Amino acid sequence: MYAGSYSLDSSSEIEKYLDSLLSKRSIFKNRDALRPDFTPDFLPHRENELRRLSEIFAPLLLNSKPSNALLFGKTGTGKTASIKLVSKIMLQKSREKNINFIASYINCRLEGTEYRILSSFANSLNLQVPFTGLATEEVLKRITSYLQKVPANVLLILDEVDTLVKSFGDDILYELSRINETFSNSRLALVVISNDLSFKEFLDPRVLSSLSEEEVLFKPYTAEELKDILNARVELAFYENVISKEVLNLVAAMSASEHGDARRALNLLRVAGEIAERRNSPTITEQDVREASLKIEEDQVFEISRTLPLHSRLLLTALLIFNQNNQVPSSGELFNKYKSLASSLRIQELTYRRVSMLLNELEMLGLIQSKVQNMGRHGRTRKMKLATPLEPIRKALSSDAMLAQFISK
Ligand SMILES: Nc1ncnc2c1ncn2[C@@H]1O[C@H](COP(=O)(O)OP(=O)(O)OP(=O)(O)O)[C@@H](O)[C@H]1O
Ligand SMILES: [Mg+2]
Repeated sequence: MYAGSYSLDSSSEIEKYLDSLLSKRSIFKNRDALRPDFTPDFLPHRENELRRLSEIFAPLLLNSKPSNALLFGKTGTGKTASIKLVSKIMLQKSREKNINFIASYINCRLEGTEYRILSSFANSLNLQVPFTGLATEEVLKRITSYLQKVPANVLLILDEVDTLVKSFGDDILYELSRINETFSNSRLALVVISNDLSFKEFLDPRVLSSLSEEEVLFKPYTAEELKDILNARVELAFYENVISKEVLNLVAAMSASEHGDARRALNLLRVAGEIAERRNSPTITEQDVREASLKIEEDQVFEISRTLPLHSRLLLTALLIFNQNNQVPSSGELFNKYKSLASSLRIQELTYRRVSMLLNELEMLGLIQSKVQNMGRHGRTRKMKLATPLEPIRKALSSDAMLAQFISK
């Protein structure tokens, strides 16, 4: 009896609690509209780029071969969103016109290897190839003979292509850029996308000239443009009057401070919304936006510090120890501390030269700061200290049991 009534009491408690949670009106009308993988149907300030892309690839809907294209521009400038939108509308048109049009979207960074890129391309054509086991040339051969047999107009999109080229060179780009010569009834246009143009240096000039038959540059957004992008998304994501014009302007201005990055702006908006929601506030305030910006920065510092190579993390640990003792070491003192940490962990230390290079890298990442100090007749010395909020670095290093022993709580 007792057990029964006990569970009845608990259930009603839970029910009450759930009711109170469920009855709370969220400020979000559609949280998904701010998720990174949401593909909007409206892209303000990309009218010219969308028109260019439509022009370049329209021949695929007229059964003729379009040019290849290279899309580039800084991160968060709408390259992926634009090509996804254009290929989606092209797919709708091709159905109306009864054309076998296939848009294969492949993110080279996520696929990771040449084999996976090609097998994922094959799968998008409805050609099954095993997950592993074949040589990449064999997969390519099967793709070409399949397209020879089954006529199709293919838009092959290789996003974040720099990651492919830097790891594996340009072999498959070379093959893919010549693939039209191997079949007569199908057509393939290749779109490569990158926010880092240094991959061009890894390309054979013939591949480069083929890939860049058309080049489309995506410029960073201005703060004004970001405002319009944010406004369109606010309508989808939040109920009315959750965010004022002034607060939205602040989000746009803060996101445009480095370069106009729409991803950063939308991220800031989402995190600010979550902070307001947690406070049970019906509106997003300026304070929420500033807190969100800090939280995003801290999360980034945490993630960078957590994933650094071991010796860089040892150097940060050494700096953190100095910091805990309120000391600002010279590079020599830091090197000695690093050596003693490495030796107590039985890790082979790196040379002073290598360590200097790692310190330069850490400084470029914005994790540490150095200042040259004049020591009079003792010459000059470089003083080092941590540059960012300490807490995320401390947390990241402490998450490694081996380093945690050196860090005070
Ligand atoms: N003009 C726009 N209107 C609405 N949303 C946009 C616009 N441009 C970009 N976005 C949104 O901003 C985010 C980043 O855009 P996108 O992924 O297209 O950037 P990208 O140029 O591909 O960046 P990266 O080089 O880092 O891959 C996405 O969530 C996208 O939906
Ligand atoms: Mg992208």
